[in-house]
Amino acid sequence: MNENVSKPYVFVYKCVIGAGRTQDGFGMEFGVNHLGHFLLTLLLLDRLKQCAPSRIVTVTSLLHRFGDVDFALLDQTKDLVRGENSVTRFMAYCHSKLCNSLFTRELANRLEGTNVSCFCVHPGVVRTELGRNSQWWMNALLTPISRLFFLDPEGGAQTTLHCVLQEGLEPLSGRYFSRCSVAQGSAKSRDDALAKKLWEVSERLAGI
Ligand SMILES: *[C@@H]1O[C@H](CO)[C@@H](O)[C@H](O)[C@H]1NC(C)=O
Repeated sequence: MNENVSKPYVFVYKCVIGAGRTQDGFGMEFGVNHLGHFLLTLLLLDRLKQCAPSRIVTVTSLLHRFGDVDFALLDQTKDLVRGENSVTRFMAYCHSKLCNSLFTRELANRLEGTNVSCFCVHPGVVRTELGRNSQWWMNALLTPISRLFFLDPEGGAQTTLHCVLQEGLEPLSGRYFSRCSVAQGSAKSRDDALAKKLWEVSERLAGI
């Protein structure tokens, strides 16, 4: 790599699905997949600006399309769903992935003119340990399917790497990538008002 190429920062982070609460009492998916990374990003933001050009890549999922954000429920229960069964937690995962997409959108708006750009990616469906906390029958069902059809972790890293390394992506800050190219996220994920509201609520919930 030559010296003119930006040295981007990447957040490769842990993503969860499963019952239970975070230490701060948030639903696991919302707390870990969204709020934790929201806070981490904000804590690193000054440094990222000083090191500009830099990039922030957030791993969302195609499943954000099934997501929604119920702010009233979030206020009331610190979670995006009500209940602990597998279907409910799957929906909580989808909601948290919509939050990842909305976060990227609002972040891009706030970072305009800073030379810090941000992207969110659907990595593909990848064989990982995401299901490590799922019920045994779900893993028994998914393991053979994943061996056959899912990307291996190397394949699953390609779109993320594209957003980290590809030169000239800056004008596409805030956009959603799939298969190493820009793609159209769901209508909700492109809703600036919703993105702004989630940002403000997340600031409050994260205590900043
Ligand atoms: C952004 O990058 C351009 C090109 O390198 C530079 O001219 C400009 O001063 C930078 N802006 C900020 C806010 O760092």
